[in-house]
Amino acid sequence: MTRDPNEPISRDEYEYEIELIRALPKVELHLHLEGAAPPGFIRSMGKQKSIRLDGVFNPDGSYAFRDFPHFLRTYEAATSVLKTPEDYRRLTLAVLEESAANGVVYSECFISPDFCGGGELNAWREYLDAMREASDEAGKSLGITLRGVVTCVRHFGPDQAKRTALCAAETAGDWIVGFGMGGDENRGSQKDFAYSFDMAREAGLALTTHAGEWRGPREVEDAVRDLRVQRIGHGVRAIEDFRLVDNLVEKGFVLEVCPGSNVTLGVYPNLAAHPIEKLRERGVKVTVSTDDPPFFHTAMADEYENLARTFRWDAARFAEIARTSAEAAFCDETTRAAVLKRLGA
Ligand code: ADE
Ligand code: ZN
Repeated sequence: MTRDPNEPISRDEYEYEIELIRALPKVELHLHLEGAAPPGFIRSMGKQKSIRLDGVFNPDGSYAFRDFPHFLRTYEAATSVLKTPEDYRRLTLAVLEESAANGVVYSECFISPDFCGGGELNAWREYLDAMREASDEAGKSLGITLRGVVTCVRHFGPDQAKRTALCAAETAGDWIVGFGMGGDENRGSQKDFAYSFDMAREAGLALTTHAGEWRGPREVEDAVRDLRVQRIGHGVRAIEDFRLVDNLVEKGFVLEVCPGSNVTLGVYPNLAAHPIEKLRERGVKVTVSTDDPPFFHTAMADEYENLARTFRWDAARFAEIARTSAEAAFCDETTRAAVLKRLGA
C-alpha cells in the first residue's frame, strides 16, 4: 500500500518517514565489486604499490569520467591496482562494511575473473578463497550475507568470456551462484556469448546479463531468447515496447534496476524521467541496486530516499521491493528463507 499523496502530513513527519525508509533492511542484486571500491581505497593502494593513476580522479578525489565509455576506462584503470587475492580480500571487506552500513542484509556481487588473475582458473580459485574469507568474516561481524555472480566482460569478447565461464562452472556451488555479463552493451550481440551462458547453465548457475541499459528493447529480447537469463541487469529500456513489457510480466523476469547509475550516466536526464515506476505499475518485477555506488555518488539508502521523494514510495512499497529481490536472489533456499526472515517477510 502506498500512502495517499493527498493525505496531509507535516514536514517533520515526512522527514521521519524518510529516515525510517533509509534504515529498512535491504537486498542488493546488482553490485560490481570493483565498481564499489571507495576512491580512497584505490588511491591508497595505488600509492602503496607506486602505480600511477593518471586521470582516474577528479581534484576532489571522486572518480573522473564524462560518459559511459570513459566510465569503463576509468573503472579498468582503477581496477589495475588490485593485483593479489589479499587486495580482493580487503576490497570485499571494505565494500561489505559500506553495504551493511546502508542496511543491506544480503548482497550479490558481480566478480570478473578477468580482473582476478586474468581468467586463469588456478589463480581465480585463490582470489575466490580470499573473497569468501572476507564474506565469512563480514557475515559474522556485520550480519551481511554475500554471494558471488561471475561476470564476463562484453567488450573483452566471446573467447575471453569462455575462459570466464569455465572459471564460473568450475567453482559453481553454494557461494558462486550465478553467471552474468557486464561491459559495453554497444559491442557485439548477446548471442555471441551463448556458448558461455550454456556452459554456466549446465553447471547449475542462474543467469543474468546487462541489457536494455544502452541499447533498446530488442537487446532485452535477445538476452531472454539467446542467453535464457532469469534476470536482466538494468533492462529499463524495455519500457519502449509495451508488448515486451507484457511478456516480461507474463514470464516473471526480474529487472535489476539501478536508478542512480542510469541518471548519472545519462540514460535518463533525472529520476522523475526514469521508468522504474512505470515498469512497476505495469507489473514488472523491479528491484533496486546501486551498480557502482562511489562512481555514481550513491548508496542503497540514498537510492531508497530518492525513490521515496520522487515517486512517493512508502515503507510498504520498499518492503515489497526487498521481498521481490530476495525471491529473485540466486542463493539456495535455506539462505533465501533466512534473508526473508531478516526482512520480516
Ligand atoms: N560494469 C560496471 N558497471 C557497468 C554498467 N553500468 N554497465 C555495464 N557494465 C558495467
Ligand atoms: Zn552493472
